[in-house]
Amino acid sequence: MGSFKPLVFSGVQPTGNLHLGNYLGAIRKFVALQESHDCIYCVVDLHAITAQLVHDDMATQIRSIAAAFIASGIDPQKHIVFNQSAVPQHAELAWIFNCVARIGWMNRMTQFKDKAGKDRENASLGLLAYPSLMAADILVYRATHVPVGEDQKQHLELTRDIAQKFNIDFQRRIEMTGHAVEMVVGEEHINGYFPLTEPLIEGPAPRVMSLRDGTRKMSKSDPSDLSRINLMDDIDTIAKKIRKAKTDPDALPSEVEGLADRPEADNLVGIYAALLEKSKADVLAEFGGRQFSEFKPALAELAVSVLAPVNAEMRRLMSDTSQIDAILHDGADRARVLAEKTMADVREIIGFI
Ligand code: TYM
Repeated sequence: MGSFKPLVFSGVQPTGNLHLGNYLGAIRKFVALQESHDCIYCVVDLHAITAQLVHDDMATQIRSIAAAFIASGIDPQKHIVFNQSAVPQHAELAWIFNCVARIGWMNRMTQFKDKAGKDRENASLGLLAYPSLMAADILVYRATHVPVGEDQKQHLELTRDIAQKFNIDFQRRIEMTGHAVEMVVGEEHINGYFPLTEPLIEGPAPRVMSLRDGTRKMSKSDPSDLSRINLMDDIDTIAKKIRKAKTDPDALPSEVEGLADRPEADNLVGIYAALLEKSKADVLAEFGGRQFSEFKPALAELAVSVLAPVNAEMRRLMSDTSQIDAILHDGADRARVLAEKTMADVREIIGFI
């Protein structure tokens, strides 16, 4: 009996502009993990139709996420970059997981509650089943590690619940068909077909907050564009958004403890630290006692120096779609082979002929 090979999977939805939260909370971690792991990075276009069905520019959105991956330093030759709908095994496994997961589990998801709003009865069935497709994305490769921002934590706990329930419900058939793999969970050794995936949430910026309200997450769906820095923003726009960012009247503290109850100051210092790959304490050692009027221009300059090269490379890639399309096709071809192997096992475990 083998054990699970470490494998990283993560996904980004092609909905709206990618922003600094996506970049610092997710994409930068994707880039770093390439050194130590085999990685699969997916543009999750099937997820993008759950909240809004019709998108006039879906193809452009898909390409722009792939371009952001590559411009940020993901190597599509050594690793795999593709779009979800090109590998139908994701949807096939999601259907099976729809029958493993319970409606109550889905109803408890805070993202479903937020996105569905007051009129839950009128949300698409896809929006309710969203986490089941997400579990399928990860488990169709039997991925062991998933780098994400903090907002995806609950979905990843549900992914583990689905894997565990499948392993238990089909325990006898998994053993009978010779597909059991041993894994260590805490102190225990257990057998199953799907790994219990580890979320990788820690990092310099697991939760980047809105520039307009330090208590709310920076989000693609915030109606105010001033609330976020988009990867495609030009230099002047980045500088303007930082200049207009909400702050309080006090100078920056010298110690991290001084950021408590100052959500906007905490967020801007956190962004500065993450961009520089240093700690908040390091940033405050330099800027403690200084006013925002001095800190904001430094932050704008740093943000531009990090984002401008990514932005320029994204624009170059987007100007000739043939290169991005070739990368996505090649990635999907390689992903399909891996996903089909899992699906062949799963069909055998269930007893489909
Ligand atoms: P999505 O497209 O909303 O976001 C992509 C990634 O960016 C992270 N993120 C943030 N991190 C820090 N601060 C923020 N303000 C912030 N906003 C977003 C997200 O946590 C995410 O890592 N459900 C997923 C997509 C998905 C997926 C998957 C992820 C589908 N299948 C399988 C991992 C594995 C989502 O909507 O991400």
